[in-house]
Amino acid sequence: MKTESFRGKDFMTLLDWSKEEIETILDVATDLKRRFALGERHDHLLPGKTLFMIFYNQSLRTRNSFEAGMTQLGGHAHYLDPGKIYTPALKGREVAYSTERVSDVARTLSRMGHAIAIRCYGDPVDWVYGGAHELLQEFAHWAHIPVLNMEDDKYHPFQALADILTVREKFGGFKGIKFVMSWAYSPSIHKPRAVPQSAIIAATKMGCDTVLAHPKGMELDPEVLKACEEMAAKSGGSFRVTNDMEEAFEGAHVVYPKAWAPTVLFQPPVGNYDKDEAQRIFDANKHWICDSEKMKLAHPEAIYMHCLPCDRGFEVTDEVIDGPQSVVFDEAENRLHVQKAVMALTMR
Ligand code: CP
Repeated sequence: MKTESFRGKDFMTLLDWSKEEIETILDVATDLKRRFALGERHDHLLPGKTLFMIFYNQSLRTRNSFEAGMTQLGGHAHYLDPGKIYTPALKGREVAYSTERVSDVARTLSRMGHAIAIRCYGDPVDWVYGGAHELLQEFAHWAHIPVLNMEDDKYHPFQALADILTVREKFGGFKGIKFVMSWAYSPSIHKPRAVPQSAIIAATKMGCDTVLAHPKGMELDPEVLKACEEMAAKSGGSFRVTNDMEEAFEGAHVVYPKAWAPTVLFQPPVGNYDKDEAQRIFDANKHWICDSEKMKLAHPEAIYMHCLPCDRGFEVTDEVIDGPQSVVFDEAENRLHVQKAVMALTMR
């Protein structure tokens, strides 16, 4: 494979990348992780390069791992608050002297730096499913430099990369690994689908035996599910959906329980869903918690994963997330290494 194919490429979703390319990214991330652990400088990789980061939403891990990562590669990351620049907006959603059309922002930043990273989901696009992804695609269309998806309303590809690097570190590969992405209860119904959708894309693409578990009413994007079926067939893995958390956990090597919004939230006309009905669907499933009893159903060597932040006492008990099977801080650390790998490969 020509690593030349990475240069200048956008990073929007793992659907755009082959299994072979993803293995290369994981290899580069592992090498950068080794150098970081040894204290070896690698600031010759992106000297003098600038990453612009536009955050429409809050963040701990994503902002700090990108910012630290650029420093370690010899470049610099700018934090841009959409409320303090002219808020980048799509045509038709502009407000005079308050917003700036995405096409103009993308072309302006392309003259000054080397990549644009964006996080956008939920309230900034009124929870219109796909609205944030469309915003990122518009950036990618107009920018002359790579556009990196730091989480939109469909995909969180860097989280998925960090997750599969963690799985590869723990199990040495993906073949025969039962990977369970499960819904779990949270008091907040406003949670995007980006993490579970990207996790099942990554797991099926890499060849895991992937199970998606959720209560009825929490279905994910049918296009993503279809893509997962196709990728599992191609990679030699498998993919299925169940409405039974306990059954899913049985014999699992990886369990990844987290909340996402109910399907009604995304059904058009957007914003017209019955909030009481959405809350009722959620609250009927408080027993979807990852506790030590459920962990006993999994493989004895099973790992517990979560992208963080988590809702302790709802999605997971303290005993599990702080216990020996939890790898949540490995995942958080691996965000740094995979992002550095992608930046080093695409921003050269
Ligand atoms: N997992 C993740 O993206 O974390 P942040 O929201 O803190 O960036």
